[in-house]
Formats: sequence, C-alpha cells, structure tokens
Amino acid sequence: MRVLGIETSCDETGVAVYDTDRGLLAHALFSQIALHAEYGGVVPELASRDHVRKLLPLVREVLAEAGLAPADLDGVAYTAGPGLVGALMVGAAAGRALAWALDLPAVGVHHMEGHLLAPLLEDPGLAPPFVALLVSGGHTQLVEVAAVGDYRLLGETLDDAAGEAFDKTAKMMGLPYPGGPELARLAESGRPGVFTFSRPMTDRPGLDFSFSGLKTQVLLAWQGSDQAPQTRADIARGFEDAVVETLAIKCQRALDATGARTLVVAGGVGANTRLRERLQTLVVGGTSVPKRSGAGVPPTARVCFPRPAFCTDNGAMIAFAGALRLQAGQHEAAVVTVTPRWDM
Ligand code: KG4
Ligand code: ZN
Repeated sequence: MRVLGIETSCDETGVAVYDTDRGLLAHALFSQIALHAEYGGVVPELASRDHVRKLLPLVREVLAEAGLAPADLDGVAYTAGPGLVGALMVGAAAGRALAWALDLPAVGVHHMEGHLLAPLLEDPGLAPPFVALLVSGGHTQLVEVAAVGDYRLLGETLDDAAGEAFDKTAKMMGLPYPGGPELARLAESGRPGVFTFSRPMTDRPGLDFSFSGLKTQVLLAWQGSDQAPQTRADIARGFEDAVVETLAIKCQRALDATGARTLVVAGGVGANTRLRERLQTLVVGGTSVPKRSGAGVPPTARVCFPRPAFCTDNGAMIAFAGALRLQAGQHEAAVVTVTPRWDM
C-alpha cells in the first residue's frame, strides 16, 4: 500500500510517500522559518497562505522523486490536528480533494501520533511495547504504548511544553526565532555548573512536568548578569542542562514504573544533542530496584530516536501513521474536519 502523507499543522509544509512493503519512497519539506522570523514567532494567517502556495508543488515533487503517478497511490493521510486551524484546513482540504479525485480512502492523522510513531519509520526491529517521550513545541508527554493505537498517558506538562520553554527563554535572551535550536547552539560554548537552575517537579513523585518557573529563574539570572557573550552561553548551558536532566529523571521513572525496556523519543526537542546523549544512560530495572552487592550495573535501556529531520515536523511520519491506520481499515467519509485542540 502506497500512502501520500501531508503535514501542515504549523509552519512546515511536509509531504511524503510511504510504501508498506518498501518503506519510505520520498519526502520533501518546505520550512516557513524565513517567513515568520521577522515577527519572532509563527503568524497563523501567513502560515496558512504559504501552505496553500507550497503544498501542491511539493506533492508533485515527491511523486516524481518516488517515480509514481497519482494513480499509483492507494491512500491519502493528512494531519487533522492538533495545530493551527487555518494551516490544518489547507492540508485537510487538499488531502480530501486528492483522495476524492483519485477515488482513494483518506484518513486524518493525529499529529502527535505521527511524532510518536516516527521512530518506527526507519527501524523495522522496533515495535511496542515501549514508553514514548513526546517533546515538541506544543507538547511534553510520557506515553505508555502497548500497541499501535493503544496509548496511555503517564504524565504531561502542567504549563509550558519543553520546546516552548526553549523558545521563550531564547527570545528573552535576544536569540532569533526559532529559539530552541539557537539556544542549544549557544549552550555548546557554555560551561556546565556556572549557572544551576532547578529540575522542576523532580523532588516529588509523579511523571508530570512544569517548565514555566524555569523560564522565570533564567530571566532573573539573565537580568542580574553582565550579559557578556560567555555569560550568555553559560546561562544557555545551565538552562539546557536543567531541561535535559528533568526529562531524563522522568523518563527513568517511567521506565521503572512500567517495566518497559525501550524508550522512544519524538518531537522537535528530540533533535537536541545533549538530550540524546543523556537519555542513552538510562537503565532498565535500575533506580527503583534496591542494588544487591555484586549485582553489577543494571543494563542500559534501549533508546530510539528518529533522525533529527524526522524529530521535527515532517510529512513522512504522517504518511507512515496514515498507512498503518489505512491498513487497519480505518478511513473516514469525505468531509473536511480538523481538530485544533485534540487529546490523543
Ligand atoms: O515537533 P516540532 O517540530 O513542532 C511541534 O509540533 O511543536 O517541535 C518544535 C520545537 C520547537 O519548540 C523548537 O524550538 C524545538 O522543537 N527544537 C529544539 C531543537 N530543535 C528543535 N529544542 C532544543 N534543541 C534543539 N536542537
Ligand atoms: Zn510537531
């Protein structure tokens, strides 16, 4: 089954074709970063208009790269939410129209399910059960995945998402949009331990997160500092270390609580190098099990990330999630509905 995937929930137009026998055949992405940069954030109306401009040329490009004619497709998947309503409508209307014209089944995919399944795209050996850490600009969630479609929320952020905290902190420190990757780059030249910020909500049990207080701590440190280049980098490093350590502590707890041996990481913050390195040190049956003398070092958990380009928004994850749903016989009547706010 060959499925066209369309992603337009925010500021990236992503298109891909996934073949259930041969894997990913082609994918393309157009990022609107330059368009929104001068406003310091995504302008929803501009995002929608640009999706209208870029989507069909990208569909043509991806079909050509895959060596397919439109008639070779077996289904269409598009992001139906959550996201910006106007942006979602562009992908949903185009996806539905293509499916109708080609007489194909179409399915609206949950954007976060797309992120959650992205690590399976390129790793045929990876299958549930596992714990997923979803860390994007809009979400920070720990999810227990028993099977594709069988998800249990273990914990989530009570205020800002991890990516949002990165973006807001970066903006506060005068870094250009999009702030997350810029702040991570700045942190590379920062020294660890010069600024130490708290690891929110790690001092009590539970798997929820809170990142808004951390942002305020950084603001106070930033305002009270000399704001010299090295200080700036040291503050960025302190902030990054606090977020990474907090996420790692909660991931370890989630592995302990569920007995899972595999952690899957998805969403834009999953592209963060330091987070990727730190999560490789998580263990199975480790911290919650009292150590017997001579019991040795607990085995490390299997930690899976998509390649960085599939951590951030992309069409491949939507084509893949859509293909699994269509294969399971799930598709919807030809009505265009999107769900800007949608629990998974
Ligand atoms: O998944 P994504 O592309 O879009 C959403 O669905 O939100 O995630 C975007 C988020 C942004 O907040 C961005 O700043 C963050 O991911 N991000 C990063 C890095 N790359 C992207 N945060 C920290 N370090 C990075 N290298
Ligand atoms: Zn996303």
